[in-house]
Amino acid sequence: MKNSIISGAGHYLPDRIVTNEELSSMMNTNDAWIVERTGIRERRWFTPGKDTVTSMARAASEMAIKNAGLNNKEIDFIIFATITPDYFIPGNGVLLQRELGLQGIGALDIRNACSGFVYALSVADQFIKSGMYQNILVVGAEIQSSALDKSDEGRSSAVIFADGAGAVVLQASNEPHKGILSTHLHADGDHAEELYVKDPGSSRKVRVSQELIDSGSFNLQMNGNAVFKHAVIRFYEVVQEALDANNLKPKDLDLLIPHQANLRISQYIQEKLGLEENQVFNNIMNYGNTTAATIPIAISEALETARIKPNDLVCLAAFGSGFAWASALIRW
Ligand SMILES: CC(C)(COP(=O)(O)OP(=O)(O)OC[C@H]1O[C@@H](n2cnc3c(N)ncnc32)[C@H](O)[C@@H]1OP(=O)(O)O)[C@@H](O)C(=O)NCCC(=O)NCCS
Repeated sequence: MKNSIISGAGHYLPDRIVTNEELSSMMNTNDAWIVERTGIRERRWFTPGKDTVTSMARAASEMAIKNAGLNNKEIDFIIFATITPDYFIPGNGVLLQRELGLQGIGALDIRNACSGFVYALSVADQFIKSGMYQNILVVGAEIQSSALDKSDEGRSSAVIFADGAGAVVLQASNEPHKGILSTHLHADGDHAEELYVKDPGSSRKVRVSQELIDSGSFNLQMNGNAVFKHAVIRFYEVVQEALDANNLKPKDLDLLIPHQANLRISQYIQEKLGLEENQVFNNIMNYGNTTAATIPIAISEALETARIKPNDLVCLAAFGSGFAWASALIRW
């Protein structure tokens, strides 16, 4: 059986930097509150007319394909994780496929929010291990800033979520003991409404109306306390599950890349697993929470800065809307 290795990664972040100070001019918040509760100092917001989810994904994908030493035509499948697609229908996978000039190959969209990239990677891993595909482009890209309620009412989520894109090439390899060792996927729909965007829902008489828009149902709604409480438990469990499945211990990890939900959540998991600071990757300070994009952006930056080296043991872990949570353990 083939192994699946990440042979290249890339990322794209919009130029526009939005500081905590700038947010304070839009809503009743302040730098000290945001830094203390979330660790975020600044984030990126897209520029309308310049950036789209597809254009950001294209930039990240081209960098990933180049870093993998491939050309576009060698990609034989696309998996695109996003909850903020450019169109309601069709999904973003086909839009990216067209941009990359890959008409004809399959393109699949995944809507598992903050866990979307790890879910996507797990699906890609199965396709490679079954022998169906050789080089799968796995992408996470989001524009969250246009769906945030930037009034005082929406401030607890408006300060957290942001825009960006990341991509990896998952490639079939014959090298033994390398690549994705295991993936673990979980969800609990009992908590679907703790972090969600209600509209445009399809089971209504009309999908869009001024009344619905005024009710705020198109904005992201989050029960921050509930999300925090579940996240710290599930993140820990799913990392431990990955290690147990491979007879490994936290001390064996070279790098844990948690979904960049909130710096306090990452620090809590670090402490609970007994990891050193250099065993955990955090960049949320600079980019906020870009949902499905945080992990591929982090992988790309970690490779660029040699935080990931050949043979390293790397664990990806995510938790978010659904609730859904997941991990992937990788020997680089
Ligand atoms: C959102 C979150 C930062 C809020 O922190 P918290 O300590 O739970 O804060 P609370 O919601 O209890 O609010 C505390 C106070 O701060 C206020 N507040 C909320 N957002 C604020 C903001 N952006 N700026 C200033 N004050 C704010 C609240 O209104 C509340 O005021 P009150 O005490 O007068 O009622 C925290 O719950 C969290 O990090 N949750 C997880 C979020 C997350 O990771 N989401 C992504 C999952 S993928």
